[in-house]
Amino acid sequence: MKQLTFKLVALILFFLIGNSVVQAQLSKDNEKQLNELMSKMTLDEKIGQLNQYTGDYLATGPVVQDGEKVNQIMQGKVGSMLNIKGSADTRTYQEFALKSRLKIPLLFGLDVIHGYYTTFPIPLAEAASWDLEAIEKSARISATEAAAGGIHWTFAPMVDIARDPRWGRVLEGAGEDTWYATKVAFARVHGFQGKGLGTPNAIMACAKHFAAYGAAVGGRDYNSVDMSERMLRETYLPPFKACVDAGCATFMNSFNDLNGVPATGNAFLQRKILKGEWDFQGFVVSDWGSMGEMIAHGFASNGNDAAMKSMLAGSDMDMESRVFTNELKKLIEEGKVPMELLDDAVRRVLTKKFEMGLFDDPFRFCTPDVEKKELSNPAHRTAARDVAKKSIVLLKNEKQTLPINLESKEIKTIALIGPLAQSEYDMLGAWSISWPDSEIVSYEEGIRARLPKNIQLVIAKGCEINGISTAGFAEAIEVAKKADIVLLAIGESIDMSGEAKSRSNIHLPGVQEQLAIEITKLGKPTVAMISGGRPMIFNDIADQTPAILYTWWLGSEAGNAVAEVLFGDYNPSGKLPISFPRDEGQIPVYYNYFNTGRPLNGDDYEIYKSAYIDMSNKAKFPFGYGLSYTSFEYSNLQLSAPSLSQSGTITVSCSIKNIGNKAGEEVVQLYLRDRVGSVVRPMKELKGFQKVMLQVGESKTLTFEINSEKLSFYNIELNWVAEPGMFDVMLGSSSEDIRLRSEFELK
Ligand code: BGC
Repeated sequence: MKQLTFKLVALILFFLIGNSVVQAQLSKDNEKQLNELMSKMTLDEKIGQLNQYTGDYLATGPVVQDGEKVNQIMQGKVGSMLNIKGSADTRTYQEFALKSRLKIPLLFGLDVIHGYYTTFPIPLAEAASWDLEAIEKSARISATEAAAGGIHWTFAPMVDIARDPRWGRVLEGAGEDTWYATKVAFARVHGFQGKGLGTPNAIMACAKHFAAYGAAVGGRDYNSVDMSERMLRETYLPPFKACVDAGCATFMNSFNDLNGVPATGNAFLQRKILKGEWDFQGFVVSDWGSMGEMIAHGFASNGNDAAMKSMLAGSDMDMESRVFTNELKKLIEEGKVPMELLDDAVRRVLTKKFEMGLFDDPFRFCTPDVEKKELSNPAHRTAARDVAKKSIVLLKNEKQTLPINLESKEIKTIALIGPLAQSEYDMLGAWSISWPDSEIVSYEEGIRARLPKNIQLVIAKGCEINGISTAGFAEAIEVAKKADIVLLAIGESIDMSGEAKSRSNIHLPGVQEQLAIEITKLGKPTVAMISGGRPMIFNDIADQTPAILYTWWLGSEAGNAVAEVLFGDYNPSGKLPISFPRDEGQIPVYYNYFNTGRPLNGDDYEIYKSAYIDMSNKAKFPFGYGLSYTSFEYSNLQLSAPSLSQSGTITVSCSIKNIGNKAGEEVVQLYLRDRVGSVVRPMKELKGFQKVMLQVGESKTLTFEINSEKLSFYNIELNWVAEPGMFDVMLGSSSEDIRLRSEFELK
């Protein structure tokens, strides 16, 4: 009886979710081969395709120690491996797979998050470049190197919107803004997948973590998420949809529960939205162990239940939890999981293997010659340096402290002070896989290489990154006293941001800020260079130190990129993709908030207004903010018409002129506000930007198109609508620095 009930439930579920079954898009030949292959596969072999195991020398989560992976591979019980890299090792494992009865090749997956051998800036830093071409190129090169190293599949891009800098994984995404994140997501997927799966240096992208992982309560990793469906669809899902639109081959689900249902067992997310509404044809891999973790969530009673719930909910591949290995066969035999669903998942995985060309040549990615050539390609370093310098954000520049003029006769000694002055490893940032093989340019090396012989570089550490000792201060102060310019190399260590690296206190760690202030007090031209994987809090430095560069983690070329900016070879153009709070108590602080019924008008506290009695509402450094060595004048805002219809467009134009004395780039940002909606709308929303290069005195006219799509939102019935009424249009240099305003009507 019990079994019958299960079968019935499974059947009803299958009927409900039937529209989420894949429609393969293979060539006729491949389609035929795939069907033939599937018809030969035993139940065990089918299940095998849905298992992904980690290699033994790199662990990115808690490893299951069952010790006999190779045998399982040779029996066709494993479809994919992660954390194996290099043409030699991937070849070895592929050879094991080809000893299996049906010789189905393995897929090799790896977290190529911001580089493989050449490390690019962390994704959040790259997002600060607002240069989609450079971002795409970085992914392209990473894919080229990874493919040469035997990798078929990267677990990137991470497209989780993140408004909470306590969450250590903010570094992996594009920041807080949904519209901008969709553009970055699209660029990254294109970068990884190049001219399409099957071309020699394309690897499969994986949009992760589906979904809403970035909204973990309290910024604590793996924590629960509770949000309205409107918020989910409007703020958190669009970057994922952009990945589908860009042809992203795979998705990864997430560790969190969403409104009480773990994402891995969430049919609403995976069946209804992803595979149903969005018609996603690729496959979904679980996050590391997340199927089995549904037991700890209290959502599955045991491994059997977890496997059933995962499969019914649309998870196709089990990363490292073994519940599919151990339980799926029983579930199929007992009819608790319909065979059609299993077949669908297997078909999705095999389709990708065909698309990648692995059935034509399972070793096409394991070629030592190509590997050698690509990993030593100097163009990759050039590109890494280019995007690294573009990622740096100039937060403050009083008294024209920067750029430093190396031709000035007054500069004889530069002091480089701080615990990151000579560090190489920390420059890479979390999720870098090239350490210790590839060369990394530290701040010291980059700066030294750029200095003329007559300028001396003196160095002192001052303190540890995260220690409490001030014993090194005296020496650092002595060194600084001898210098004409002081550079402070401070920030987080590589292991302070990333997965499982949430911080409740996001101030600069240890006594570094104290050190920086002691040095600032000497009154020398002083530049703080702050590295890290997240927005940090450093109010004293922000208020007292004359110049600040936010340098994130810039990767292999960190030191060279920083030197270019310090010495004016490159005029900084980065803008923050995420707001920097004044204090943890303000979190989450983001630019596209609702006004409330009692908005604060100015910055000062007023009673019965939405405010803190002890602090401004505003971010210390807002979204979109970043200075340049030159300045730009915005003028002549024009709208092509005072109104538009639902099917029409309005063109917004403005002039922008470089009125300073150095050539430079500005990121001109377009924000819109829907004044009255059937649900309240944000104070402003980014809906366009252009990064424009201007010579001294040069001016350009920029145009932006606005259509009803850009004015749309989810109404109370969750329909995507643009409602007639008045809209504000704002052009600015940051979300807080609006230079031009106008209005128009949607009829
Ligand atoms: C992370 C994923 C990652 C996976 C494999 C997990 O712990 O959440 O983002 O891709 O491990 O390394």
